Amino acid sequence: MCVLLSGSKSPSQMASAQSSQLKDEVQDFWNAEPCGSRYLEAAEDFEAFEAHLRSRYALEPHIPQFAKFSSARDLRVLEIGAGIGADYLEWLRAGADATGIDLSAISIERAKRRCVLAGYEPDLRVADAERLPFAADTFDVVYSYGVMHHTPPRIMLYHHPSLTGMMLWLRYGAWRGKSMRRTVFDHLESPETKTYTKAEGRALMQGFESVDIQQVFSPGDLLLNAPSARFQSAVCRLAWKLYPRTLVRKFGRRWGLFLLISGRKPRGDEMSRLNARCQGHPQIYLNGHN
Ligand SMILES: C[S@@+](CC[C@H](N)C(=O)[O-])C[C@H]1O[C@@H](n2cnc3c(N)ncnc32)[C@H](O)[C@@H]1O
Repeated sequence: MCVLLSGSKSPSQMASAQSSQLKDEVQDFWNAEPCGSRYLEAAEDFEAFEAHLRSRYALEPHIPQFAKFSSARDLRVLEIGAGIGADYLEWLRAGADATGIDLSAISIERAKRRCVLAGYEPDLRVADAERLPFAADTFDVVYSYGVMHHTPPRIMLYHHPSLTGMMLWLRYGAWRGKSMRRTVFDHLESPETKTYTKAEGRALMQGFESVDIQQVFSPGDLLLNAPSARFQSAVCRLAWKLYPRTLVRKFGRRWGLFLLISGRKPRGDEMSRLNARCQGHPQIYLNGHN
């Protein structure tokens, strides 16, 4: 006998409701503490934003070279997950025709303020990376730094295994019998943060040309980041002090959290014109971020 309950949901409706609830949680997380706010002084004036930029590139010196801001003049750039707009402003400064989106309205507001204070008219919008409001091939460059692993149920580009993962595992996972991956999933930033091995990252780029994957340390791997509210205990403060950074830098590169992945869409006739303009400028940048 088959009983139909009125108002009951099909499995696909339930999966979609769960995914939308999770996305709300991700959005709430980044609205509560927009990414990088820890390094932004309360004033939020031009100087505070510039100080944030300097500390960002001091902690993550690979960013400008990876993004190739300096070769973006006149290119149409889409930044997905622009956060509070540090990199987005660099695209504008480099002369790109840049559009930025983020799920978090508070982040977008802050990013707008940053750009206006710097004398630019930004094109920044609240939008979901999984429902982009743009036609295909609108942009020459799509850049996304530290975002895709936060957006369910798509790709993720934090590396597994990593030093950050190991530290989280020691703090939250080991004594509960959780794997490192599961611990990162549950405890790194917003809910359900995914991690990928290099081979898995490469598989995600199937169909792209000139795929390149670099692995680098996150500030968290080296405990160079300002500890978040969860890591203020005396034990954590001691760990931050005694951490053997020189040794880790020398021997731990395979355990870096960030995978910097670049690749190029296959060239058709239409694409060759573009590629001439984008010379050496990978079409897509995806990476992990702490
Ligand atoms: C770790 S922060 C990185 C922000 C910025 N790219 C940076 O490096 O400072 C992740 C950002 O991704 C955004 N985000 C997460 N899921 C998203 C989605 N589905 N669509 C758009 N943005 C998303 C969050 O709101 C947050 O601002």
